[in-house]
Amino acid sequence: MPGLPWLLPLSLLLLLLLLLSVSADVQIKVTKNPADELVDVINNNRTASKSSSLYDNPGLACIALQYIKAYQGDCAAVGGANAKKPPEADFAEIFAPNCGVQTLSLSPITGRLLGCETKYVSPSKAFSGILMQKEKSIEIVTDKNHTEVGAAVSGSDGGSPYFWCVLFSNGTSNSSFVLEGGVAKISKPGCFSGANDECSSAYPSQVRHLWPFVASGLVALWCVFAL
Ligand SMILES: *[C@@H]1O[C@H](CO)[C@@H](O)[C@H](O)[C@H]1NC(C)=O
Ligand SMILES: *[C@@H]1O[C@H](CO)[C@@H](O)[C@H](O)[C@H]1NC(C)=O
Ligand SMILES: *[C@@H]1O[C@H](CO)[C@@H](O)[C@H](O)[C@H]1NC(C)=O
Ligand SMILES: *[C@@H]1O[C@H](CO)[C@@H](O)[C@H](O)[C@H]1NC(C)=O
Repeated sequence: MPGLPWLLPLSLLLLLLLLLSVSADVQIKVTKNPADELVDVINNNRTASKSSSLYDNPGLACIALQYIKAYQGDCAAVGGANAKKPPEADFAEIFAPNCGVQTLSLSPITGRLLGCETKYVSPSKAFSGILMQKEKSIEIVTDKNHTEVGAAVSGSDGGSPYFWCVLFSNGTSNSSFVLEGGVAKISKPGCFSGANDECSSAYPSQVRHLWPFVASGLVALWCVFAL
């Protein structure tokens, strides 16, 4: 049977090419910023409900990521009977300095949404399936008092559980949550909106790290068959 020795390596090669294209696809997806996508979903929902589109403030968004970090990965402290909230003083004492936000530019928080799930979902699913689960949430999103928004998403170690946080403010866009030097201090893991950056650290790192192993395993296998 002279055909058979060729058939196996060939089909493995095809499989490898297929897997590489799938992994390329995964990489394209992870280069976007899920926090920016969440702000888009929120602004689309607002404009569809005849409320104004909100300014995406990177200083406020960085604070939203700090707000998440205050939970230290404890999903059970979000919502429900054991719900906890970081103390208000943390905004000025911890969150703002960690972000490089000028303390004097801190403005009133006019709404906040927080959700936590063990599974990573897309920003639009996080919006409708996690953040909008309480009856009051839609009022918070469409509140006409807000002028700006900041969103963040983070896994505790770049992995599960996944926290989503949205903070709203009625501050003026160019004089609230002002960043020293104009850029937010990036703190990993996690992504926040408004900074025009690409971010993928909210995604499970295993997904990205698995492909090279699968691919090299297949190459090794293919070499064995090719011999
Ligand atoms: C806004 O989002 C909420 C929650 O997902 C949904 O029930 C509502 O229909 C949306 N509003 C508009 C105008 O699309
Ligand atoms: C908007 O702000 C005013 C004044 O601070 C307050 O009375 C009102 O309840 C707010 N509206 C909503 C929907 O929160
Ligand atoms: C912003 O909201 C706070 C708290 O609701 C309120 O006291 C303040 O007057 C508002 N500021 C502006 C400029 O609307
Ligand atoms: C902030 O924006 C307002 C309106 O867009 C403008 O009048 C004001 O001069 C700006 N302030 C600063 C500090 O850039």
